[in-house]
Parts: sequence; C-alpha cells; structure tokens
Amino acid sequence: MDVVRTKSMTATLVTDSEAATDREDLDPRLVSFLKPESFEADQYRMLRYAMERACPSDGSRVIAITSPISGDGKTLTAVNLAGTIARGGQSRVLMVDADLRRPSLAKVLGHSNVHRGWGLVDAILDRRLSLEQIAWPLQPFNLSVVTSRRPQADTYELLASGRFGELLRDARQRYDCVVVDTPPVLPAPDSRLLAEWIDGYVIVVAADKTPRKLLEETFALLGPAKILGLVFNRESYKGSRYGRYYYAYSSRS
Ligand SMILES: Nc1ncnc2c1ncn2[C@@H]1O[C@H](COP(=O)(O)OP(=O)(O)OP(=O)(O)O)[C@@H](O)[C@H]1O
Ligand SMILES: [Mg+2]
Repeated sequence: MDVVRTKSMTATLVTDSEAATDREDLDPRLVSFLKPESFEADQYRMLRYAMERACPSDGSRVIAITSPISGDGKTLTAVNLAGTIARGGQSRVLMVDADLRRPSLAKVLGHSNVHRGWGLVDAILDRRLSLEQIAWPLQPFNLSVVTSRRPQADTYELLASGRFGELLRDARQRYDCVVVDTPPVLPAPDSRLLAEWIDGYVIVVAADKTPRKLLEETFALLGPAKILGLVFNRESYKGSRYGRYYYAYSSRS
C-alpha cells in the first residue's frame, strides 16, 4: 500500500483572463489547478503515480476518495487528484460528487464555474436525464464534473436504486478515469453501498487527528483488496519528512 502526505496549504491565486473557468472562484487550496508547480501540487502527483501503479489502466478506472469520519479532506483531495490526472491531457477525467449528505464539489469549484442546473440527484430521480446532460466541462482543465445537491429523499435509497450504478457504467464508457467524492465510511452506510461500482478506494486521514482504531475499522469494512492507499492530509511542515529538502532543491534549480 502507498502512503502519500499532503502539507497544510496556503495557495496564492493565479489568474488567467483567457481561461473560461473563473480561477478566482476556485477554492485557493485547489493547488493542482492554481499552483501546479508547487510542493503541494507535487504531493498530488505522487498520489496519482501511486494510484496508477496500484490500478493499471486496462480500461477506465473508477476511484473513490473516502475517509473514516467527516472533515478529513476528502473533497479537496478528490478535486486536486482529478486536476492532476486531467493535467496530463491524455485522459478524459470525470469528477462525481456522490456525497449526497454533504455535497460540496460545487462550492470548492465555485458556483460560477459549474453547472447550476441538473446534478447527480436529479439524474437518479429522473432516468430521462443522461450523464451528458449532468456532466459539466471545466475549461481549460480537461475535466468534467457532476455536482450534487442535498436531496429531500433518503440518500441510502437513492444510491441503492441501481440508477447510480447505471450512470457510473456510462461514465466508464466515456471517460478514462472517474474520481468519486464519497461520504465518510463509519458514520453512514452510503460509502459501503457504492463499493460494487468502485475499483479502488483512496482513504484520507487527517494527520495527527484520525484515531488509529477508526482507520482499522474502515479497513475492515471496505476490505483490503480495494484499498489503493492512504493520504495523510494536513501534515504540518514540521511533520513533513521531505518538505525542507524539497525547498532546498527547488531554490537551487
Ligand atoms: N490539505 C489541506 N490544507 C488546508 N486545509 C485543509 C486541507 N484539507 C482539508 N482542509 C480543511 O478541512 C476542511 C474539510 O476539508 P474537505 O471539505 O476537503 O473535507 P471532507 O472530508 O470532504 O469533509 P466532509 O466529510 O464534510 O465532506 C476544509 O474546509 C479545509 O478548511
Ligand atoms: Mg466533502
């Protein structure tokens, strides 16, 4: 199993008036989009490398980003990973917000940047809506996104309906890589319900915060076969083994 560490991030905004996406509306911690040359963005490249090694591409991959409990950094990790994969330019990448209890993809990408119309919940409830109608291209990042909203209906029933699986099957045909932001594993059954359609899980834990016991329970529930690796998120400079070497290295080049 691979372990990737991400440092706590304070990113500087980079603006480009030519781009269709309003970069000022992106969460400044989306370093894969805003600061691709940074140390922080390199941590997501390492995650991409680890993921590609663990999950060779003989067809498209569907990767879920999850965590034992809420607030560990799933959404930021998922978007930064998707951005890193999309940067290569060879892969068609789709990001799906399947955390129906706390959808937040639209918020971090900026409401002005993503489809304000239909999303995942709408397409689950109305079979006439296709994946194409709910996937929103994020230009010029070579990435499409499916956002979500908090539903009135029971999230378990929505995900168990089979329609979510159909949409993901369609996504496999159209994209090389699908990154799914999911709810945390322990407080709700939703993440486990998705397992049938997921090729591999990346588990995000908050460095120095997530109790080891909860991580062990998460491993046991998801089963080791599908766990691609662990991300220690929000690691401080002090805890980062390579951070100071990296800075010394990049300042000389
Ligand atoms: N690498 C990071 N650097 C700095 N802050 C971070 C980092 N990762 C997460 N955070 C902070 O933690 C908060 C939670 O992050 P995020 O929304 O990605 O977590 P989550 O696991 O998706 O949460 P939820 O379970 O509520 O969906 C963010 O608002 C952000 O402030
Ligand atoms: Mg989230």
